[in-house]
Amino acid sequence: MGRCPGCGEWNTLVEEQAPEPSARASRPGRRRGEKAPRPVPLAEVEASSMERVLTGSDELDRVLGGGLVPGSIVLIGGAPGIGKSTLMTSALASVAGAGRRVVYVSGEESAAQVRLRAERLGPDALSIPVLAETSLHQVLGSIAAERPEVCVVDSVQTLYSEDLTGAPGSVGQVREVAARLERFARERGCAVVLVGHVTKDGTLAGPRVLEHAVDCVLQFEGEPQRTYRTLRALKNRFGSTNEIGVFEMRSGGLTEVADPSERFLGEARPVAGSCVLCAMEGTRPLLVEVQALTAPSDVVPPRRIANGVDRNRLSLVLATLARNGGPSLGSSDVFVSVAGGVRIEEPGADLAVALALASAARGEPLARGSAPLACFGEVGLTGELRFVAHAERRLQEAARFGLEQVIVPARCLSDTAPSAQAAATAADSLGDALRIALDPPALTQAA
Ligand code: TYD
Ligand code: MG
Repeated sequence: MGRCPGCGEWNTLVEEQAPEPSARASRPGRRRGEKAPRPVPLAEVEASSMERVLTGSDELDRVLGGGLVPGSIVLIGGAPGIGKSTLMTSALASVAGAGRRVVYVSGEESAAQVRLRAERLGPDALSIPVLAETSLHQVLGSIAAERPEVCVVDSVQTLYSEDLTGAPGSVGQVREVAARLERFARERGCAVVLVGHVTKDGTLAGPRVLEHAVDCVLQFEGEPQRTYRTLRALKNRFGSTNEIGVFEMRSGGLTEVADPSERFLGEARPVAGSCVLCAMEGTRPLLVEVQALTAPSDVVPPRRIANGVDRNRLSLVLATLARNGGPSLGSSDVFVSVAGGVRIEEPGADLAVALALASAARGEPLARGSAPLACFGEVGLTGELRFVAHAERRLQEAARFGLEQVIVPARCLSDTAPSAQAAATAADSLGDALRIALDPPALTQAA
């Protein structure tokens, strides 16, 4: 077939080797004396708790769920130049520094190029054994002899198997490479990290099946022009997918940002169009500045640009704003972004987007004091403010940065310790929150 019946694309089908048909596989349970296996109660299954391999980076370890699991396979994706190779080289350097065996397979760069990078990362990085090779068979043979505990393959798209006809990076090749490396990982108890490319539209290149085959998919994102990078897990069989790790690219490689709130809030000022969001990323509260700008539009439909927040949620917020006493922005261009290049995925960001937009449309700052106004909460379709989890931790984080006013969904305060409520102002609905933020009663009276 020239055309794939699944996706409708032309010339995407790739020839693959069919496995040898074996008589035994095709006729199950036919042999005499051979019993069919029986299921075992889970309580009787032996599960040795494996000691994880720490990568020397708290941020990476946390996203992985506490370090690399021996015998597992991890896929890390990200745009070119984002720092995948740098992150993996420093991780290997630290694992090697702890006396474990490692191998860095480089299909993309020559050994000399890998060395040049390693020179910037410190002495441990220079002790990493590197294998610049693109033939899967050679790589498998070499790592079988080396018996590493952690092996990085950079990148999965550059290796190829001679058994298949497709070019390296094609669907069949990538799948074969991943499958063979997975078998190696499981059999030898080696943690294998595959580095993957990301296509223009931001998805991991190669077949989706790759994401099913691996235990953990990490996405490394950020803008190459900026220094901040975030690492998040899209799938993790050994941990949560809510955690993010924050890094900064410096001349000596990637450094961890231990206190991201401080970095992201550093430039927040109480000006029109700015609102601080108390977000949660996994188990960690994170303060970020949401910025909005509105301008009369000269195109139909007007522009809706969202950086760091979900575009669909922005549409929802715009619609509820118009209905609940906020500005109608139907003929304005709207830009919303999270300062610092972070992406916030939780619905608790809605209220901050709404307030930043309202403030931008009016041209007035939200806060009256020196500290910016903060908030969190999900906006429902009827304009109500909905409960979001971890109110207490968010409020504590805001208090740590001296934020004096935090607008909170009223429902969130019932299970919050009174000590954490000092800065909190409860609002039932979006309309309420807009009044509190833009028309404080004391000021209207004075006027
Ligand atoms: P790299 O890890 O090669 O990215 P990827 O493998 O994801 O394509 O490096 C990305 C960029 O980081 C590169 O443009 C150079 C820069 N960089 C630094 O700024 N400092 C450093 O110490 C290193 C090693 C790289
Ligand atoms: Mg690279």
